[in-house]
Amino acid sequence: MEYKYAKNENYEDFASGRVLYHGRGMTNFPVRLAQEIYKRCLQFSPIKEDICLYDCCCGGGYLLTVLGFLNQDTIGRIIGSDINPELLETAKKNLSLLSEEGMNKRIAEIKEMLSSYQKQSHIEALNSAIALRNMLRKKIKFEVYRFDALKEINLKAKPDIILTDVPYGNMVDWTGNEENNILDKLLDTLYGICSPDTVIGLCMSKKQKIRNEKFIRLEKQQIGKRKFEILKKD
Ligand SMILES: C[S@@+](CC[C@H](N)C(=O)[O-])C[C@H]1O[C@@H](n2cnc3c(N)ncnc32)[C@H](O)[C@@H]1O
Repeated sequence: MEYKYAKNENYEDFASGRVLYHGRGMTNFPVRLAQEIYKRCLQFSPIKEDICLYDCCCGGGYLLTVLGFLNQDTIGRIIGSDINPELLETAKKNLSLLSEEGMNKRIAEIKEMLSSYQKQSHIEALNSAIALRNMLRKKIKFEVYRFDALKEINLKAKPDIILTDVPYGNMVDWTGNEENNILDKLLDTLYGICSPDTVIGLCMSKKQKIRNEKFIRLEKQQIGKRKFEILKKD
């Protein structure tokens, strides 16, 4: 796949565990790829500003937080949900970094570690935190919920873009389901919270398949061991 939107930049300020919190069992998603998928979804969306972005398997909120930083011009609200309550606590901490208060709190935390341990990694974390704080232009509202995405998602809002990196075995697997048509089941749940304009960017391993007839595929791309599909309601 050729990148159309996301530049080949140094994204190390977003390294998980540096300024953004890394929770136990969290996976890492490449920042450039996340940005590319978001921008491609935005291209298909008739709504171009004040976007409500939702991730139904948000884990520690890494993907959502990074996208929040990089897309303050288009994102107005972020919603994350996951089945794992422990990861949701990390998601809240990560998403709080999208405000000056949250980032100042994180900077104070890093400064305290630096004065206690004087590690090079803490100096790097402090520099990255200052760089991320300088990126902040507005406060993005966020909400975090515990939902089983295969059963019921109880959102009041209809998200404009749903971007999610689904479990695919190695590090994280689906909780609560053994069936092999699992992505179709996920799409059945998502159907209820989509407006006709909602655009879904679904990231999965290249072995996973979608056959849900309630949605049409707008795009499909493969990158290494991953693939993503962009869908909307038929
Ligand atoms: C690949 S990880 C997503 C990582 C996330 N994008 C991030 O930035 O940290 C997949 C997530 O799906 C969650 N998950 C597994 N089964 C689920 C279910 N039935 N409903 C909702 N989330 C589920 C896992 O807890 C895990 O956090």
